[in-house]
Amino acid sequence: MLKVAIIVGSTRPGRKAAAVAQWVHDIAKKRSDAEFEVVDLQDFNLPLLDEPVPPSQGKYAHAHTQAWSAKIDPFDAYIFVTPEYNHATSGALKNAIDYLYKEWNNKAAGFVGYGSAGGTRAVENLRLIMGELQVADVRAQVALSLSTDFENYTVFKPAARHETTVNTLLDQVIAWGGALKPLRKK
Ligand SMILES: Cc1cc2nc3c(=O)[nH]c(=O)nc-3n(C[C@H](O)[C@H](O)[C@H](O)COP(=O)(O)O)c2cc1C
Repeated sequence: MLKVAIIVGSTRPGRKAAAVAQWVHDIAKKRSDAEFEVVDLQDFNLPLLDEPVPPSQGKYAHAHTQAWSAKIDPFDAYIFVTPEYNHATSGALKNAIDYLYKEWNNKAAGFVGYGSAGGTRAVENLRLIMGELQVADVRAQVALSLSTDFENYTVFKPAARHETTVNTLLDQVIAWGGALKPLRKK
């Protein structure tokens, strides 16, 4: 069974990312074509990248990197739940992505963004990063609006139509995550 991580891309106190990731997980759990797990950056407490050797060499000096690598490596695909900070993804998510290399290679990814313009600029930013990491990012994406999907810009109340998009996103991520399996040496 394919394993899909739903990554909580904000560590900010009062963050919206946790509620959004939980919502994605609740929709995903209704499916039987993959296993889904929420992976919360906050649980890994990663400092700003402090590994002396480039991640592509996989020689990790620190326990926090080894723990992060051990969590990310077994997944076949990732759903990145990303806020938009200054038209990019969060520093916390970029930093966590930068920590690893081979763990991401030849996997699939999809995006759930949120912001005043649906987090679309953050997702475009992540798509550039995925290319360098040899991650196949799917076309479907969920774009949540701070003004219409969060009551008073605060409480997450997504429009019903987004559930369909989450499932399209999962369809594509699961298909590509499976298709790339022969390229992963496991
Ligand atoms: C540093 C910072 C920069 C932001 N820049 C943008 C932005 O460029 N576009 C946008 O739509 N929202 C922007 N916002 C608003 C965020 O979308 C909003 O605060 C959201 O709740 C952040 O996600 P989080 O609560 O999960 O951390 C910014 C927020 C912060 C804290």
